[in-house]
Amino acid sequence: MGGFDRDWLRLRAPFDDAARDATLTRRLAAALPDEPRLLDLAAGTGANLRHLSPRLRRPGQRWVLADHDPVLLDTAAAEMAACAHPLPAFETRRVDLSRDLESLDFRQFDAVVATALFDLVSADWMDRFVAALAAAPRPVLVTLSVDGRLRWSPEDPGDAAVRGWIERHQATDKGFGPALGPEAPRHLADALRACGFAVETAASDWIIGPADAAMHLALIEGYRGAALEIAPEGESSAIEGWAERRRAAAAAGTLEALVGHVDIFAEPR
Ligand SMILES: C[S@@+](CC[C@H](N)C(=O)[O-])C[C@H]1O[C@@H](n2cnc3c(N)ncnc32)[C@H](O)[C@@H]1O
Repeated sequence: MGGFDRDWLRLRAPFDDAARDATLTRRLAAALPDEPRLLDLAAGTGANLRHLSPRLRRPGQRWVLADHDPVLLDTAAAEMAACAHPLPAFETRRVDLSRDLESLDFRQFDAVVATALFDLVSADWMDRFVAALAAAPRPVLVTLSVDGRLRWSPEDPGDAAVRGWIERHQATDKGFGPALGPEAPRHLADALRACGFAVETAASDWIIGPADAAMHLALIEGYRGAALEIAPEGESSAIEGWAERRRAAAAAGTLEALVGHVDIFAEPR
Protein backbone atom coordinates (compact mmCIF):
# COMPACT_ATOMS: atom_id res chain seq x y z
CA MET A 1 0.00 0.00 0.00
CA GLY A 2 1.24 3.57 0.58
CA GLY A 3 1.74 4.89 -2.97
CA PHE A 4 -0.55 4.19 -5.86
CA ASP A 5 1.61 1.80 -7.81
CA ARG A 6 -0.13 -0.46 -10.25
CA ASP A 7 0.60 -3.61 -8.23
CA TRP A 8 -1.36 -2.16 -5.31
CA LEU A 9 -4.22 -1.07 -7.60
CA ARG A 10 -4.26 -4.57 -9.13
CA LEU A 11 -4.28 -6.23 -5.69
CA ARG A 12 -7.15 -4.15 -4.37
CA ALA A 13 -9.31 -4.35 -7.52
CA PRO A 14 -11.09 -7.66 -6.72
CA PHE A 15 -11.86 -6.43 -3.19
CA ASP A 16 -13.21 -3.18 -4.65
CA ASP A 17 -15.29 -5.10 -7.19
CA ALA A 18 -16.81 -7.32 -4.49
CA ALA A 19 -17.45 -4.38 -2.16
CA ARG A 20 -19.14 -1.93 -4.52
CA ASP A 21 -22.85 -1.42 -4.12
CA ALA A 22 -24.72 -2.86 -7.11
CA THR A 23 -27.88 -0.82 -6.50
CA LEU A 24 -26.03 2.48 -6.81
CA THR A 25 -24.36 1.25 -10.01
CA ARG A 26 -27.84 0.52 -11.38
CA ARG A 27 -28.95 4.04 -10.37
CA LEU A 28 -26.12 5.49 -12.42
CA ALA A 29 -27.01 3.25 -15.37
CA ALA A 30 -30.63 4.40 -15.24
CA ALA A 31 -29.54 8.05 -15.26
CA LEU A 32 -27.49 7.73 -18.47
CA PRO A 33 -28.50 8.32 -22.09
CA ASP A 34 -27.46 5.98 -24.88
CA GLU A 35 -23.86 6.55 -25.93
CA PRO A 36 -22.98 8.29 -22.66
CA ARG A 37 -19.75 10.14 -22.10
CA LEU A 38 -18.25 9.49 -18.65
CA LEU A 39 -15.48 11.29 -16.79
CA ASP A 40 -13.49 9.23 -14.27
CA LEU A 41 -11.54 11.40 -11.80
CA ALA A 42 -8.24 9.95 -10.50
CA ALA A 43 -8.73 6.97 -12.76
CA GLY A 44 -5.34 5.34 -12.19
CA THR A 45 -5.18 2.44 -14.64
CA GLY A 46 -8.95 2.49 -15.30
CA ALA A 47 -10.37 0.08 -12.71
CA ASN A 48 -13.58 2.10 -12.53
CA LEU A 49 -14.17 1.74 -16.27
CA ARG A 50 -13.45 -2.00 -16.09
CA HIS A 51 -15.93 -2.42 -13.27
CA LEU A 52 -18.70 -0.13 -14.45
CA SER A 53 -18.79 -0.34 -18.24
CA PRO A 54 -20.25 -3.87 -18.54
CA ARG A 55 -22.78 -3.11 -15.78
CA LEU A 56 -24.04 0.16 -17.28
CA ARG A 57 -25.44 -1.68 -20.29
CA ARG A 58 -25.19 1.41 -22.45
CA PRO A 59 -23.86 0.97 -25.98
CA GLY A 60 -21.38 3.45 -27.33
CA GLN A 61 -19.97 4.52 -23.96
CA ARG A 62 -17.01 6.88 -24.20
CA TRP A 63 -14.77 7.49 -21.23
CA VAL A 64 -12.18 10.06 -20.26
CA LEU A 65 -9.74 8.80 -17.62
CA ALA A 66 -8.20 11.75 -15.75
CA ASP A 67 -5.20 11.34 -13.45
CA HIS A 68 -1.93 13.14 -12.75
CA ASP A 69 0.23 10.01 -12.88
CA PRO A 70 1.47 9.33 -16.43
CA VAL A 71 2.77 5.87 -15.51
CA LEU A 72 -0.67 4.71 -14.34
CA LEU A 73 -2.40 6.28 -17.34
CA ASP A 74 0.10 4.64 -19.71
CA THR A 75 -0.66 1.27 -18.10
CA ALA A 76 -4.41 1.62 -18.68
CA ALA A 77 -4.34 0.29 -22.26
CA ALA A 78 -2.47 -2.88 -21.25
CA GLU A 79 -4.83 -3.45 -18.30
CA MET A 80 -7.83 -3.07 -20.62
CA ALA A 81 -6.32 -5.47 -23.17
CA ALA A 82 -5.99 -8.12 -20.43
CA CYS A 83 -9.71 -7.83 -19.66
CA ALA A 84 -11.95 -10.78 -20.57
CA HIS A 85 -14.90 -8.68 -21.78
CA PRO A 86 -14.94 -6.01 -24.51
CA LEU A 87 -14.47 -2.49 -23.19
CA PRO A 88 -15.63 0.89 -24.48
CA ALA A 89 -13.54 3.56 -26.11
CA PHE A 90 -11.51 5.68 -23.71
CA GLU A 91 -8.93 8.40 -23.75
CA THR A 92 -6.57 9.38 -20.98
CA ARG A 93 -6.05 12.92 -19.80
CA ARG A 94 -3.16 13.97 -17.60
CA VAL A 95 -4.51 16.48 -15.09
CA ASP A 96 -3.41 17.59 -11.65
CA LEU A 97 -6.88 17.58 -10.10
CA SER A 98 -5.69 19.52 -7.09
CA ARG A 99 -4.58 22.45 -9.21
CA ASP A 100 -6.64 22.13 -12.38
CA LEU A 101 -9.98 20.55 -11.45
CA GLU A 102 -11.80 23.46 -13.08
CA SER A 103 -10.04 22.76 -16.41
CA LEU A 104 -12.37 19.76 -16.80
CA ASP A 105 -15.64 20.97 -18.21
CA PHE A 106 -18.31 18.73 -16.65
CA ARG A 107 -20.79 19.92 -19.30
CA GLN A 108 -18.98 17.73 -21.83
CA PHE A 109 -19.98 14.60 -19.88
CA ASP A 110 -23.19 12.77 -19.01
CA ALA A 111 -21.84 11.62 -15.63
CA VAL A 112 -18.84 12.04 -13.36
CA VAL A 113 -17.42 9.07 -11.48
CA ALA A 114 -14.52 8.50 -9.10
CA THR A 115 -13.39 5.59 -7.00
CA ALA A 116 -10.90 5.50 -4.12
CA LEU A 117 -10.28 9.24 -4.36
CA PHE A 118 -12.51 11.26 -2.10
CA ASP A 119 -11.01 10.29 1.27
CA LEU A 120 -7.72 11.76 -0.01
CA VAL A 121 -9.10 15.23 -0.66
CA SER A 122 -9.59 18.24 1.59
CA ALA A 123 -12.85 19.95 2.52
CA ASP A 124 -11.81 22.92 0.35
CA TRP A 125 -11.21 20.72 -2.69
CA MET A 126 -14.46 18.86 -2.16
CA ASP A 127 -16.30 22.16 -2.03
CA ARG A 128 -14.65 23.13 -5.34
CA PHE A 129 -15.79 19.81 -6.80
CA VAL A 130 -19.37 20.31 -5.61
CA ALA A 131 -19.37 23.90 -6.90
CA ALA A 132 -18.25 22.64 -10.35
CA LEU A 133 -21.00 20.04 -10.27
CA ALA A 134 -23.61 22.57 -9.18
CA ALA A 135 -22.62 24.75 -12.15
CA ALA A 136 -23.00 21.77 -14.53
CA PRO A 137 -25.38 19.37 -12.75
CA ARG A 138 -24.61 15.75 -13.68
CA PRO A 139 -25.20 12.37 -12.02
CA VAL A 140 -22.20 11.40 -9.93
CA LEU A 141 -21.04 8.07 -8.52
CA VAL A 142 -18.27 8.27 -5.92
CA THR A 143 -17.27 4.86 -4.62
CA LEU A 144 -15.02 3.35 -1.99
CA SER A 145 -14.33 6.24 0.34
CA VAL A 146 -13.16 5.02 3.75
CA ASP A 147 -15.49 5.75 6.66
CA GLY A 148 -13.20 4.89 9.58
CA ARG A 149 -14.51 1.43 10.45
CA LEU A 150 -11.57 -0.95 10.69
CA ARG A 151 -11.78 -4.29 12.49
CA TRP A 152 -9.69 -7.43 12.64
CA SER A 153 -10.67 -10.83 13.90
CA PRO A 154 -9.29 -12.17 16.12
CA GLU A 155 -8.63 -8.90 17.91
CA ASP A 156 -5.17 -7.87 19.03
CA PRO A 157 -4.35 -5.66 22.04
CA GLY A 158 -2.51 -3.28 19.67
CA ASP A 159 -5.43 -2.72 17.28
CA ALA A 160 -6.95 0.32 19.03
CA ALA A 161 -3.68 2.26 19.16
CA VAL A 162 -2.79 1.46 15.55
CA ARG A 163 -6.30 2.44 14.46
CA GLY A 164 -5.80 5.79 16.19
CA TRP A 165 -2.49 6.43 14.35
CA ILE A 166 -4.08 5.44 11.05
CA GLU A 167 -6.97 7.86 11.61
CA ARG A 168 -4.50 10.66 12.28
CA HIS A 169 -2.52 9.73 9.18
CA GLN A 170 -5.68 9.68 7.05
CA ALA A 171 -6.17 13.36 7.91
CA THR A 172 -2.74 14.43 6.59
CA ASP A 173 -2.24 16.20 3.26
CA LYS A 174 -2.33 13.84 0.28
CA GLY A 175 -1.77 16.61 -2.24
CA PHE A 176 -5.18 18.31 -1.91
CA GLY A 177 -4.73 19.99 1.50
CA PRO A 178 -5.58 18.35 4.86
CA ALA A 179 -7.46 15.19 3.90
CA LEU A 180 -11.02 14.50 5.00
CA GLY A 181 -10.23 10.80 5.42
CA PRO A 182 -13.21 9.04 7.06
CA GLU A 183 -15.17 12.32 7.17
CA ALA A 184 -15.28 12.38 3.37
CA PRO A 185 -18.51 10.44 2.76
CA ARG A 186 -20.58 12.55 5.15
CA HIS A 187 -19.05 15.79 3.92
CA LEU A 188 -19.75 14.93 0.28
CA ALA A 189 -23.31 13.74 0.89
CA ASP A 190 -24.12 16.89 2.89
CA ALA A 191 -22.57 19.22 0.31
CA LEU A 192 -24.44 17.57 -2.57
CA ARG A 193 -27.75 17.68 -0.69
CA ALA A 194 -27.18 21.36 0.07
CA CYS A 195 -26.85 21.91 -3.71
CA GLY A 196 -30.20 20.25 -4.38
CA PHE A 197 -28.96 16.81 -5.45
CA ALA A 198 -30.83 13.64 -4.47
CA VAL A 199 -28.23 11.59 -2.62
CA GLU A 200 -28.07 7.88 -1.83
CA THR A 201 -25.34 6.17 0.15
CA ALA A 202 -24.49 2.51 0.74
CA ALA A 203 -21.78 0.57 2.54
CA SER A 204 -19.05 -0.91 0.31
CA ASP A 205 -16.83 -2.63 2.84
CA TRP A 206 -13.78 -4.69 2.05
CA ILE A 207 -14.15 -8.12 3.62
CA ILE A 208 -10.73 -9.71 3.72
CA GLY A 209 -10.82 -13.39 4.53
CA PRO A 210 -8.35 -15.89 6.00
CA ALA A 211 -7.20 -16.96 2.51
CA ASP A 212 -6.42 -13.36 1.41
CA ALA A 213 -2.87 -13.28 2.77
CA ALA A 214 -1.44 -10.95 0.10
CA MET A 215 -4.11 -8.30 0.77
CA HIS A 216 -3.68 -8.65 4.56
CA LEU A 217 0.10 -8.27 4.23
CA ALA A 218 -0.17 -5.21 1.98
CA LEU A 219 -2.60 -3.54 4.38
CA ILE A 220 -0.54 -4.41 7.46
CA GLU A 221 2.55 -2.94 5.77
CA GLY A 222 0.64 0.20 4.76
CA TYR A 223 -0.83 0.68 8.22
CA ARG A 224 2.53 -0.01 9.88
CA GLY A 225 4.22 2.62 7.69
CA ALA A 226 1.48 5.18 8.32
CA ALA A 227 1.57 4.58 12.08
CA LEU A 228 5.37 4.83 12.27
CA GLU A 229 5.27 8.05 10.27
CA ILE A 230 2.85 9.79 12.60
CA ALA A 231 3.43 8.27 16.06
CA PRO A 232 6.13 9.48 18.48
CA GLU A 233 9.32 7.41 18.34
CA GLY A 234 8.55 5.84 21.69
CA GLU A 235 5.61 4.00 20.07
CA SER A 236 7.72 2.32 17.38
CA SER A 237 8.32 -0.98 19.13
CA ALA A 238 4.62 -1.36 20.00
CA ILE A 239 3.72 -0.70 16.34
CA GLU A 240 6.37 -3.16 15.09
CA GLY A 241 5.12 -5.78 17.56
CA TRP A 242 1.56 -5.32 16.32
CA ALA A 243 2.67 -5.68 12.70
CA GLU A 244 4.67 -8.81 13.48
CA ARG A 245 1.72 -10.50 15.22
CA ARG A 246 -0.63 -9.47 12.41
CA ARG A 247 1.76 -10.80 9.73
CA ALA A 248 2.01 -14.10 11.61
CA ALA A 249 -1.80 -14.40 11.79
CA ALA A 250 -2.11 -13.60 8.07
CA ALA A 251 0.52 -16.22 7.19
CA ALA A 252 -1.23 -18.78 9.40
CA GLY A 253 -4.53 -18.16 7.60
CA THR A 254 -6.38 -17.11 10.75
CA LEU A 255 -6.88 -13.39 10.10
CA GLU A 256 -10.03 -11.63 8.91
CA ALA A 257 -10.53 -7.90 8.45
CA LEU A 258 -13.27 -5.44 7.62
CA VAL A 259 -12.35 -2.05 6.15
CA GLY A 260 -15.40 0.21 6.05
CA HIS A 261 -16.14 2.19 2.87
CA VAL A 262 -19.10 4.12 1.53
CA ASP A 263 -20.45 4.54 -2.02
CA ILE A 264 -22.42 7.65 -2.94
CA PHE A 265 -24.70 8.22 -5.91
CA ALA A 266 -26.24 11.63 -6.47
CA GLU A 267 -28.26 13.17 -9.25
CA PRO A 268 -29.73 16.59 -9.85
CA ARG A 269 -33.39 16.75 -8.83
C1 LIG B 1 -6.20 5.00 -4.55
S1 LIG B 1 -5.75 5.42 -6.20
C2 LIG B 1 -7.25 5.01 -7.07
C3 LIG B 1 -7.04 4.82 -8.54
C4 LIG B 1 -8.25 4.25 -9.30
N1 LIG B 1 -9.41 5.10 -9.14
C5 LIG B 1 -8.55 2.84 -8.82
O1 LIG B 1 -9.50 2.66 -8.07
O2 LIG B 1 -7.80 1.93 -9.20
C6 LIG B 1 -5.80 7.20 -6.15
C7 LIG B 1 -5.53 7.84 -7.50
O3 LIG B 1 -5.52 9.26 -7.33
C8 LIG B 1 -4.57 9.78 -8.22
N2 LIG B 1 -4.24 11.13 -7.77
C9 LIG B 1 -3.71 11.48 -6.57
N3 LIG B 1 -3.50 12.81 -6.53
C10 LIG B 1 -3.92 13.31 -7.73
C11 LIG B 1 -3.97 14.61 -8.30
N4 LIG B 1 -3.53 15.69 -7.62
N5 LIG B 1 -4.46 14.75 -9.54
C12 LIG B 1 -4.90 13.69 -10.24
N6 LIG B 1 -4.88 12.42 -9.76
C13 LIG B 1 -4.38 12.24 -8.52
C14 LIG B 1 -3.43 8.79 -8.15
O4 LIG B 1 -2.53 8.92 -9.24
C15 LIG B 1 -4.19 7.47 -8.15
O5 LIG B 1 -4.40 7.00 -9.44
